[in-house]
Amino acid sequence: MKSQWSSRFTFIMATTGAAVGLGNIWKFPYMAGENGGGLFVLFYLIAVALIGIPTMMAEILIGRLGRHNPVNTLELVATHAGKTPQWKLLGWWGALGLVLVLSFYSVIAGWSIGYLLKAWFGEFNGLSAHQVQVLWQHFLSNPYTLILWHTLFMSITLWVVARGVKQGLERAANIMMPGLFFVLIILLIYSIFVGDFKAAFNFLLMPNFKEISASALIYALGHAFFTLAIGAGAMLVYGAYLPKDTKLGSSVCIIAALDVLVALFSGLAIFSLVFKYGLPPEGGPGLMFKVLPIAFAQMPAGQWFGGLFFLLLWFAAWTSSISMAEPLVVLLVERRGLTRNRASFLIGLLCWFLGLFALLSFNAWENIRILGFTIFEVMADTTTNIILPIGGILFAYFAGWVIAPKDAKHGLLMENPFLFKLWQWLVRYLAPIGILFSFIYGLWPF
Ligand code: PHE
Repeated sequence: MKSQWSSRFTFIMATTGAAVGLGNIWKFPYMAGENGGGLFVLFYLIAVALIGIPTMMAEILIGRLGRHNPVNTLELVATHAGKTPQWKLLGWWGALGLVLVLSFYSVIAGWSIGYLLKAWFGEFNGLSAHQVQVLWQHFLSNPYTLILWHTLFMSITLWVVARGVKQGLERAANIMMPGLFFVLIILLIYSIFVGDFKAAFNFLLMPNFKEISASALIYALGHAFFTLAIGAGAMLVYGAYLPKDTKLGSSVCIIAALDVLVALFSGLAIFSLVFKYGLPPEGGPGLMFKVLPIAFAQMPAGQWFGGLFFLLLWFAAWTSSISMAEPLVVLLVERRGLTRNRASFLIGLLCWFLGLFALLSFNAWENIRILGFTIFEVMADTTTNIILPIGGILFAYFAGWVIAPKDAKHGLLMENPFLFKLWQWLVRYLAPIGILFSFIYGLWPF
């Protein structure tokens, strides 16, 4: 792979683009709402700091050492370290995760395109909280328009990946990502004044230890992986494009901090309105779409502000989905010799098709349940809670035990011996044991 990010700044922007997406703004609030709030958030913050950051460094490090698609990279780096080339299976495992995530992700990103148009055409203007809920039900019940948005989103994503127009995207990300941050801050300020900020703060940031639950632990851990875009090889590929002199530790900490901030801003804004209007916190995947339009309906210039919000959200989803598609496309190009165009078309088609199952489970196939879960829930939960964390354990293990310490040190560009030891200890022991513990605890039937 020849391409490279032009600077450390672009690397941070592109990687933040992969990390910050629907996971922060759409998924985090509804997951927190369904899992009791504060304790979920606390577990999530701990998981990001102690497991997410070191694992993200591990994954980027592996990419930097191998400089190919995840499968070839793992094969190459393992062979170089004198270990079995079968580590490549981890690359395929990650690819499976990316295919599934991209499939349902595009459906949700499609919702934000639909809502972007609604905002701009003034459909929210003057609506009451109740009317916003009705609008949402109506929107979700029509599969045809949802398929249109899903198709549009998938096509644009794969078109960008096919053309390899990363430069254009990098430049756009430099404006759009800070823009999103800015719009979220305004939204937060608005909800501090208009909504019930105190209740939101207590709900999200004051953990109630009496409500400790095993599933909250697993969901928080899985969400940490999802939101940091780790465990599936997306970060590995971004690491393969890393300029030679970029230090990994500080860059990854900046990315993780931005990622967490966006999630918290979004959560606080949404729950301030949830409590103000007496809506249930466990609003499910539609939570954001049922709550934010209430603010856009009532704030001055809400039509434009709402439109801007959904536009930036769409962009954030776009940069994330590109990071999912890119490793898959490179995989087909490098291993199967396909052209970039053909590979992008095939990946797009596969994920689009699988996405239809997730999409229909919100309307026509609502009643089809697998062990009580809808198809969307099965897709989202197995990838987030099983595929990504298992991938994460293995990436951490690989970086800690398979790669020779001197290569790791060199690849991370970590001069401080104490920090290197700390990282090594985290990826060797804490990350794998922490993940295993959450699995056993979360899946224990008693
Ligand atoms: N991190 C992205 C988000 O929060 C989702 C993602 C998951 C991206 C896995 C790449 C790989 O929206």
